[in-house]
Amino acid sequence: MRVTINKIQEMKQKGEKITMLTAYDYVTAKLVDEAGVPLILVGDSLGMVVLGYQTTIPVTMDVMLHHTKAVVRGTANALVVGDMPFMTYHVSTEDAMRNAARFIQETGCQAVKLEGGVTVAEKVKRIVECGIPVMGHIGLTPQSINQFGGHKIQGKTPEAAKRLLEDAIALEQAGAFSVVLETVPAPLATLISKKISVPTIGIGAGAGCDGQVQVINDILGSYTDFVPKHAKQYAKLVNIISGAISAYHEEVKSGTFPTEAQSFPMDESILKDLDK
Ligand code: KIV
Repeated sequence: MRVTINKIQEMKQKGEKITMLTAYDYVTAKLVDEAGVPLILVGDSLGMVVLGYQTTIPVTMDVMLHHTKAVVRGTANALVVGDMPFMTYHVSTEDAMRNAARFIQETGCQAVKLEGGVTVAEKVKRIVECGIPVMGHIGLTPQSINQFGGHKIQGKTPEAAKRLLEDAIALEQAGAFSVVLETVPAPLATLISKKISVPTIGIGAGAGCDGQVQVINDILGSYTDFVPKHAKQYAKLVNIISGAISAYHEEVKSGTFPTEAQSFPMDESILKDLDK
């Protein structure tokens, strides 16, 4: 049975911490799902960690739908959240509803995520009214990186902290089933987590959030162009992967790969006839 939004909300009520990880392909999604992680985000961070863009801004609906389908195919239990890319929910409420529906209908994911608080609350409300669960995302929202002028901590001044709390409350009131808090001071994230009844999922927001999300490439150490301060590397896959690639390259050059173990024999007499 797949995890539902009710289950995620019950976890907050019971004080159980919620784990969320990103995944962008079938193989990784299967591993995350088999590990029992209840929430998988097909984040538009794939623009950076999979496709090599500098930001998430170039990511399109087509790209997101393609990867979300693969992740859904790799999962049996986790609740899969599709991340709505830049400008797919900004122009109009109709646009937002149609694009949210495409995620659910075409990929089979169970929820969508979009960035923003008060300014997108009406759109969140209308999407939820269509029966599509929405995860909010406030704080350092990467689609607005040019507006912020870089990866800066959000909510540090009294006014900014107040705005963030208002954003979180607006999303809760609009019907969001949970809210991501990205790169905000830990004490503020703790306060917001107490003030709203839906789970907060932190990334660079301290231990007081109801759950945590990380970009899988950051925790695996498989993307090293930019390692955020909030990420902990539980492995250094780059070393393992480049070691394997170099070993293969060396063996092909030296003729030690392939051996008989990786080859297929055939009837000698057929060869002899061919070689006459
Ligand atoms: O795109 C993404 O991976 C995200 C998470 C960092 C929350 O939005």
